[in-house]
Amino acid sequence: MHAFVRLQPVNLGAKLGAILAWPPLELARFQDKLTRLTFFDPACGCGNFLVIAYREIRRLELACLKAQYGDQQIDAALLSRVTVDQFYGIEYEEFPARIAEVAMWMMDHIANNEINEAFRLNYARIPLKESAHILHGDALEEDWADLLPPERCSYIMGNPPFIGAKYQSEFQRSQVRRIAGLGGSGGTLDYVAAWFIKSGHYLQGNRRIRVAFVSTNSITQGEQVAQLWPILFDRHGLEIAFAHRTFSWGSEARGKAHVHVVIVGLAHRDHEPPEKRLFSYPDIKGDPVESHHAALTAYLFDARGVANRHLVVKEAGRPINGARRIVTGSQPIDGGNYIFSPLAKRDFIQAEPAAEPFFRPYLAADDFINGGERWVLALRGATPSEIKAMPLVVERIRRVREFRLASNRKSTLLAANSPAEFGMSVIPDSPFLVVPKVSSERREYVPLGYLNPPTIPSDLVFLLIDAALFEFSILTSRAHMA
Ligand SMILES: C[S@@+](CC[C@H](N)C(=O)[O-])C[C@H]1O[C@@H](n2cnc3c(N)ncnc32)[C@H](O)[C@@H]1O
Repeated sequence: MHAFVRLQPVNLGAKLGAILAWPPLELARFQDKLTRLTFFDPACGCGNFLVIAYREIRRLELACLKAQYGDQQIDAALLSRVTVDQFYGIEYEEFPARIAEVAMWMMDHIANNEINEAFRLNYARIPLKESAHILHGDALEEDWADLLPPERCSYIMGNPPFIGAKYQSEFQRSQVRRIAGLGGSGGTLDYVAAWFIKSGHYLQGNRRIRVAFVSTNSITQGEQVAQLWPILFDRHGLEIAFAHRTFSWGSEARGKAHVHVVIVGLAHRDHEPPEKRLFSYPDIKGDPVESHHAALTAYLFDARGVANRHLVVKEAGRPINGARRIVTGSQPIDGGNYIFSPLAKRDFIQAEPAAEPFFRPYLAADDFINGGERWVLALRGATPSEIKAMPLVVERIRRVREFRLASNRKSTLLAANSPAEFGMSVIPDSPFLVVPKVSSERREYVPLGYLNPPTIPSDLVFLLIDAALFEFSILTSRAHMA
């Protein structure tokens, strides 16, 4: 996880230009302010974020010095006062934690050389008196205030680990459950959400702190929104101060894929900026377009269109308006023993002619979209004596039973008691509407269609049995696609 991620240099050009025009007193105050800022990355890896932040702050300080002293010879040791000890990090792995410390000294050396170049000096900060404060530990267990009391903290930032609920270890899940305190089964929050929540808690000690994390975009879409954002909005009084909508973020580490991320900046409601900057990516691999808003929603859009900017859409297991429920198709859980290609079906029936009436067309998302043909042996309705009279079918049933017994899922083990049945049976006996679960993000519309029995839909499609035309029209509508 501690890959060297390609970081875009912050564009401080405009700021640097403006500094040159400031009066001396303002310059001195500004430099003073820079020396009081602190930066904290609670999942700092090798310290890329801290290093780049340090470089930029040193450049601002240098611009300040240049504006004050022009070409004069100055004693940089006295005048450059921004140091690495304004930077704090927590990292779980020891090796990257130590690298982060050293990387900060390396950037210190580079920044000192920039001063040397500007003022024709030969300055080095040796011996190394100050160092960045990098704690080797678990950020979700440590008390951040022990490392940096909140009243001294200015900015929290970073890209904490993204780990979907399904991929978290037992311990990680227990950490998210404890920190989010959602109750019940603990929700489906990504691991990264714990850093947002813990920051919200930390901010109670200093409401002026600004927070920004790169995060998987899943915290701004779908089911996680209603789990995370009420905690940040209501429990911790936070607001979105700025955001980058989904963009594709590459890593230079070998074998690491691009990830779709957002950047969310948070401020306490008492100190939220009146204008929120929103960066949208018409091309997720391209440059953003900036817009300005009075408020942003958790879904990262302008809040003007909603009655309450904190609105979140809660998950509901059943339709909230009395509409009929869309269900998932059958899941045979058969290890492939009941599913046949047309050729395999032909050979099977040649060897076991009595099995023919039990074959039914079988439909998965791919078959529906691309027109494949598959068959499933559906034994529901077959009497025990019919089954007994088909030794090849009996053999298949035996194999399905074995397959299920090898599972460690409780429900699959239970299904081994009735191996002639599908693990999950949804067999419509009237026309039904099919919605493939997987389509393509390049398709503007998910292809839907009506199908009839005896076709059995697989669990890779959703279906609405006896769907009316208005249901078809709503499901195919652009609003529903969105
Ligand atoms: C996506 S990487 C961040 C990389 C970082 N920005 C850098 O410059 O290297 C996430 C980092 O969080 C660390 N991490 C994972 N779980 C953690 C935890 N519970 N506490 C602290 N750090 C953790 C990982 O070891 C990894 O270095």
